[in-house]
Amino acid sequence: MATSFCNRRVLLAKFLLAIMAACCTLVESQGTRVGFYSTTCPRAESIVQSTVQSHFRSDPTIAPGLLRMHFHDCFVQGCDASILIDGPNTEKTAPPNLLLRGYDVIDDAKTQIEAICPGVVSCADILSFAARDSVVLTGGVSWAVPTGRKDGRVSLASEAANLPGFRDSVDLQKQKFAAKGLNTQDLITLVGGHTIGTTACQFFRYRLYNFSTTTANGADPSINAAFVSQLQALCPQNGDGSRRIGLDNGSVNRFDNSFFANLRDGKGILESDQKLWTDASTQTIVQRFLGIRGLLGLTFNVEFGRSMVKMSNIEIKTGTAGEIRRVCSRIN
Ligand code: HEM
Ligand SMILES: *[C@@H]1O[C@H](CO)[C@@H](O)[C@H](O)[C@H]1NC(C)=O
Ligand SMILES: *[C@@H]1O[C@H](CO)[C@@H](O)[C@H](O)[C@H]1NC(C)=O
Repeated sequence: MATSFCNRRVLLAKFLLAIMAACCTLVESQGTRVGFYSTTCPRAESIVQSTVQSHFRSDPTIAPGLLRMHFHDCFVQGCDASILIDGPNTEKTAPPNLLLRGYDVIDDAKTQIEAICPGVVSCADILSFAARDSVVLTGGVSWAVPTGRKDGRVSLASEAANLPGFRDSVDLQKQKFAAKGLNTQDLITLVGGHTIGTTACQFFRYRLYNFSTTTANGADPSINAAFVSQLQALCPQNGDGSRRIGLDNGSVNRFDNSFFANLRDGKGILESDQKLWTDASTQTIVQRFLGIRGLLGLTFNVEFGRSMVKMSNIEIKTGTAGEIRRVCSRIN
């Protein structure tokens, strides 16, 4: 009698433990967490940081390059480093990805990490760390990067067509972000990533010439007229379409909220960016970043990290899904 009672207690305890274990594995396999490598590869994060730093010192354009690369990775097959895979018809061969920069930085960090903890740290996590480090190097506020992503085994150029386009309406931009679990505030915050980096003339020059019959200069009426002349001088109608100009006029290398002031002033470079001001539904959020009186203020550099954590958790592969690639440019 006493034994059976005892056994039942033991059984119950075992049962509860089993449930707890199943529950915890489940929780862990579903998400990323800060400090995922703290016992398996404690130096991973600092190796990425020092690698990004040293590349940045010789070429500051890798900071915007890596930030954009993380975005383009996350929006296609989730944040799984599918953007890094070489080969015919992989994502990196698709038109929106042709000008991405920073692949060598990821390879460099991966090589160093593999040398000390082989097969442990995913390329997807390295890219996520590198994007954060790029923001910090350009003056942004740091955030803790949750890790534990696995690398994907699929990379298709055709899927890059789902990335937001520079002519997209605000509604379409919202839709594309919502499809990834990102709300309208995340959209505006993350597009604020254009506070650093440049664009080729080919992506906005059409706004400068014969775009409208309502303006004397023929340009998109949403562009500040004095600014149009500057842009036309830098990007002549039949000039070099690959020439690059800053996305955040006057503050191209600083991670600050001046990008939003430029939108207010009609100095947005991409049509999709300027529309965030033209459209009433998004203008209010831009105004909140500008600290307009009477509106609840938003601090860009704080919100950016928050939205980045959301973006870097899009459709991630964890647990038994995916793999830890040995070389970031090819599946194992
Ligand atoms: C509606 C959404 C977006 C559109 C249509 C868009 C479009 C573009 C385009 C056309 C360029 C110029 C590319 C080039 O000429 O090399 C660019 C650059 C850039 N984008 Fe976006 N983007 C969007 C959202 C984002 C987001 C969410 C981020 C990051 C969080 C981001 C980060 C960047 C950065 C940092 C650059 C500069 C790249 C460099 O200097 O190499 N963009 N974007
Ligand atoms: C655009 O405008 C310019 C100058 O106003 C003119 O020379 C050119 O022929 C026009 N191009 C087209 C395609 O209409
Ligand atoms: C932007 O700002 C700078 C001043 O830093 C100016 O010299 C430049 O010509 C401006 N215009 C464009 C289109 O980049």
